Amino acid sequence: MDLLPISDVSESAGRGRYRRDVSEQPCPASAPTLFTWEFATDPYPAYAWLREHAPVHRTTLPSGVEAWLVTRYADARQTLADNRLSKNPQRHSESAHARGKVGIPGEQRADLMTHLLNIDPPDHTRLRRLVSKAFTPRRVAAFAPRVRELTDDLIDAFAARGEADLIHEFAFPLPIYAICDLLGVPREDQDDFRDWAGTMIRHGGGPRGGVARAVKRIRAYLAELIHRKRAALGDDLISDLIRASDHGDHLTENEAAAMAFILLFAGFETTVNLIGNGLYALLRNPGQRARLQRHLEEAEEGDEGLLATGVEELLRYDGPVEMATWRFATEPVTIGGQHIAEGEPVLVVLAAADRDPERFADPDVLDLSRTDNQHLGYGHGIHYCLGAPLARLEARTALATLLRRIPDLQLAAEPDDLRWRGGLIMRGLRTLPVTWGK
Ligand code: HEM
Repeated sequence: MDLLPISDVSESAGRGRYRRDVSEQPCPASAPTLFTWEFATDPYPAYAWLREHAPVHRTTLPSGVEAWLVTRYADARQTLADNRLSKNPQRHSESAHARGKVGIPGEQRADLMTHLLNIDPPDHTRLRRLVSKAFTPRRVAAFAPRVRELTDDLIDAFAARGEADLIHEFAFPLPIYAICDLLGVPREDQDDFRDWAGTMIRHGGGPRGGVARAVKRIRAYLAELIHRKRAALGDDLISDLIRASDHGDHLTENEAAAMAFILLFAGFETTVNLIGNGLYALLRNPGQRARLQRHLEEAEEGDEGLLATGVEELLRYDGPVEMATWRFATEPVTIGGQHIAEGEPVLVVLAAADRDPERFADPDVLDLSRTDNQHLGYGHGIHYCLGAPLARLEARTALATLLRRIPDLQLAAEPDDLRWRGGLIMRGLRTLPVTWGK
């Protein structure tokens, strides 16, 4: 399957608004095959077909689990906020969860089940309120200088070389060191985290044994760290999670460990992929990239302008979370005219919804200045991403710093030769080779 012809807004003509017109894309004539390597490389033509012909589509996932895929924007937004759909895997009609086919590998064995993405109100309301007291926008804003320092250190390590793999040397280490610093993991232990996170990301779509072992190690480490911090609270997020209280209510040690784990898990690969997919999209859209670089040269300190709208557009255009996490019908429901029985799993395909021509003008065009851009890249409803301010900070800092310091970056591989990781939920490149100064 060919890659989508990725066009630049400056090169596109005759752009209408809010049309269901898929004629500009190579939309397959018949039902597409999902979950192949070709699909992973470019799932958008298949999603265009589903939106048009089977907007709520029952499929068998590579794990053998049957699930409904929701692909239109309006249905997706409604489904994400529908309280008849539970996040609790025990509501699944099959025992797939017990067989380790649903959810984060290893979370069950490591006793990390009770985290925000697996629970419903009132438990979710209680835990989210407590964590929101610790993980505040103020804490994230105060973290900005450290993110800049981390970004510069990573670029220093390869800047003189003239070539790099931007996934392994840049997009991958930045979020892991950032979240470790924020949580309060001592610097001398952060390379262990880097290794465990590397196992999670390398094997995320493959054999689950290695990931389960890494999750178990992270769990054991966090339990020990929380125990130590309880004795000597510091100025870090784990200490604040321990301190956080709401009308006398506190997180238990188990809840604090599950919370630290989900912050790490939800905040790591997502951000790797936002930086990776974002840089790739910029490298393939020279007109948009030149606009952003001009903005970065001319903008006053603190004027984020095109950088801010641009990062949102990169999230919409090729975001890191291809599908939202599992949801299960707690009663018979109808979505987009399709009947779904109690206990059946539903996956909202954010990547498909965010390219819906009913919602976005010229959805397949990257337009960094797009303002009418209520994308679903961070989800919607009560499970809306808790880490969005941190993700924005990291992505803006990473893209701006790299493009300022190495303005002549060039992609050093043919797009067809790049490989995407095959996971279900996340969408991201395995490598992103670049050169400069040549
Ligand atoms: C570009 C980066 C990110 C993207 C695209 C992203 C996306 C998302 C999405 C789509 C959801 C909702 C999932 C669902 O409803 O099934 C979510 C939830 C969540 N995210 Fe993020 N995320 C990012 C970064 C982060 C970071 C940096 C953190 C924290 C350090 C974080 C923490 C969370 C948490 C804790 C939840 C669960 C919230 C809840 O259930 O109440 N995320 N994220």
